Amino acid sequence: MKKLFAKKALNDLSEESNHHHFKRVLGPFSLIALGIGAVIGAGIFVLTGLAAKEFAGPSLVLSFVLSGLACIFVALCYAEFASMIPLAGSAYTYSYAALGEIFAWIIGWDLILEYSLASSLVAVGWSHYFVKLLETFGLHIPSWLINDYWTLSRQAGDLFTQSVPCFYGIPIVFNLPAALIIVAITTLLVIGIKESARFNSIIVGVKLAVILLVICVGWFYVKEDNWGSNFSAFAPFGIGGIGKGAAYVFFAYIGFDAVSTTAQEAQNPKRDLPIGIIVSLVLCTLLYIAVTAVLTGMVYYKNINIDAPLADAFTRYGLTKVSFFISVGAVAGLTSVLLVLLLSQSRIFWSIAGDGLLPERIFAAVHPRFGTPHVSTIIVGVCVALTASCFPIEEIAKLVNIGTLLAFCLVSAAVIILRIKDPHHPRAFKCPFVPVIPVLGILSCGYMMIRLEFSTWLRLIIWLALGAIIYAAYGRRYSKLARKHALVVKKNEALMELNKSYL
Ligand code: ALA
Repeated sequence: MKKLFAKKALNDLSEESNHHHFKRVLGPFSLIALGIGAVIGAGIFVLTGLAAKEFAGPSLVLSFVLSGLACIFVALCYAEFASMIPLAGSAYTYSYAALGEIFAWIIGWDLILEYSLASSLVAVGWSHYFVKLLETFGLHIPSWLINDYWTLSRQAGDLFTQSVPCFYGIPIVFNLPAALIIVAITTLLVIGIKESARFNSIIVGVKLAVILLVICVGWFYVKEDNWGSNFSAFAPFGIGGIGKGAAYVFFAYIGFDAVSTTAQEAQNPKRDLPIGIIVSLVLCTLLYIAVTAVLTGMVYYKNINIDAPLADAFTRYGLTKVSFFISVGAVAGLTSVLLVLLLSQSRIFWSIAGDGLLPERIFAAVHPRFGTPHVSTIIVGVCVALTASCFPIEEIAKLVNIGTLLAFCLVSAAVIILRIKDPHHPRAFKCPFVPVIPVLGILSCGYMMIRLEFSTWLRLIIWLALGAIIYAAYGRRYSKLARKHALVVKKNEALMELNKSYL
């Protein structure tokens, strides 16, 4: 039991942050761009449509406010940790110091849902917009090359067998663009963080320009009637619908915490990480609220398109050029989300492996020339490409959300625990009003978890059980901290024996 709850000392972690192999190249601007790059993506470009239509109607604006507030509470907690423990492991490392090894492992395992699974989902969203863009140029890709088996068989129905080629009786169906974008980004990430950050900053510029275009042009086409003249028209699914919408569009905020995983590549992590996390999140929250107000004002919520809601809203008004630019922005936006999520996943693996909870020679290897964790980046890339090209992922969005919400609750709790346990450790940034803010973070994230269905909870439990098996089979045995503790215990026992023999 002691081994399971063994904690890392904060002083050891400070020491650790000075010894690493990454290059410190990221300034505050790059960090804010990384945050925005990770946050604005499939959530606003795709999921808003379904959320407005089926969960919240025009009151989706309030869902975004609720979800955004929860994230701001948690972001303040992340910022305190990031300034105190500037290490690539992010929430995983914070909980190692505050809650102990088993919780750290749970969070690390949980973050795979946030980063890898979310990347698969975003890659599929990317492929949809990319295919749409190709179609505007008259290029058509066969449906068996842009779908997964389940989605295509549902869409094609009886025509399925005629529409796909077979290899020895096995139908060949996979999403090629989704796999290719992951391969391209993985290559970029192996080459280097500086190149990736530069590429990200350019893309973020395009994405922000498109979002501002939606807000500024769309505003002129808003019909106030679409928002509803009273509360029941504004919130047709009631307060519960607002909560359900918040739990669903929470996906749109995922990624602000990714900034903290680049702690060891930041020039001045203690000052710039809190800036990167908080500024990017607040900006995105404001933009989301404005975009949702415009969308639900332009189109009556029941008529909102589910696949490409923003582009469709402008097509309805004959603004095909604006609609085209939105598709370009979506492709760019989703590319940068993929870049940051995949970057973060390999950094988390690197940290876990460094502690001995995963094979170090594989997951912690750093390329001698590029200075990037190339092996784990490639492993993550291959797994995400396979998942994105072969599986339907709508349901997975909910799994991503519940996993991330759990991690956020644990990080908020960890802030309170460390304030009690180690009140004097230097904190360059302090979360205000502790414990009120972390408790609000736990309550709001907990509320959104409750709004998700039982089947999503079940999947989370299965995922955590799988993680527990891996920990029992590998991590527990090879944990460096556990081995260090065992050595200290042995030394103490030997000393006691020696003392006894003198007495
Ligand atoms: N927040 C990211 C998105 O919406 C994951 O795509």
